[in-house]
Amino acid sequence: MDRNADAPWSNFDPEVYVDNNYRTPLEADLQIVRLLRDYFGRCFAGSVPGSVRGVDVGAGANLYPALSMLPWCEKVLLLEYAPPNIEYLKRQIAPEGFGSEWDAFWDVLREAPAYRDVEPRGRVSEIVRVERANLFDLDGRRRWDIGTMFFVADSMSECPEEFQRGVRCFMNALGDRAPFAVAFMKESVGYQVGDHRYPAYRVNAARARESLEPFAAELEIHDLHHVVRPGHEGMILALGRREGEIAAP
Ligand SMILES: C[S@@+](CC[C@H](N)C(=O)[O-])C[C@H]1O[C@@H](n2cnc3c(N)ncnc32)[C@H](O)[C@@H]1O
Repeated sequence: MDRNADAPWSNFDPEVYVDNNYRTPLEADLQIVRLLRDYFGRCFAGSVPGSVRGVDVGAGANLYPALSMLPWCEKVLLLEYAPPNIEYLKRQIAPEGFGSEWDAFWDVLREAPAYRDVEPRGRVSEIVRVERANLFDLDGRRRWDIGTMFFVADSMSECPEEFQRGVRCFMNALGDRAPFAVAFMKESVGYQVGDHRYPAYRVNAARARESLEPFAAELEIHDLHHVVRPGHEGMILALGRREGEIAAP
């Protein structure tokens, strides 16, 4: 069984990954972005507390979770483990502005009023920062007010215990009532990025609910039946607010 530490993260190729997944926007991701936009909009309707801090864990080569948090946050931190992905993310937050591959996702976000007046490139380079971190080393200090984790706990290991630990470490980084969004590839058997193979743990809607429920209130599980490549059966998006159990890391 491939554990997280066994996978070739230093060889992860972000450009190939973006080509495979995001350069031509897939309907499943656009649907996820709509759901994110509307959910965060509802969470912050009426009032936005001052100094909201956001985090995207295992950000990899995906900017849309960070973009979805832009209107609400004073700061957004992208935590990532693989060095090539960290370099990719640093290029996206440089003053020259993020790559045009993310425009289609922003176009969906800006259909909602909260996003419309945000100038996304300036705002990203102003408030978003990138740091290297291992999800498993998050120390349980609950320092973020909104958080996302997309295709990480399910797409980093074959080991059930590491999947649950990934979910727990993410949840334990969020403050009380923090809105969150977590996405999993449904029933993934692993994935290829260029010449390298990466492990996955098979998650379905029931397993997603079971793993998140101890940590969440108002949990919504969206079971999206879009298949984007062989070796999985769709995508699962979980939305909710952090509440409940605080488990040891
Ligand atoms: C399938 S990719 C998902 C990337 C991105 N979040 C997305 O939505 O496309 C899995 C990501 O998890 C990261 N990752 C793997 N092990 C990790 C760990 N122990 N801590 C943090 N990130 C990790 C990988 O480097 C990679 O960026």
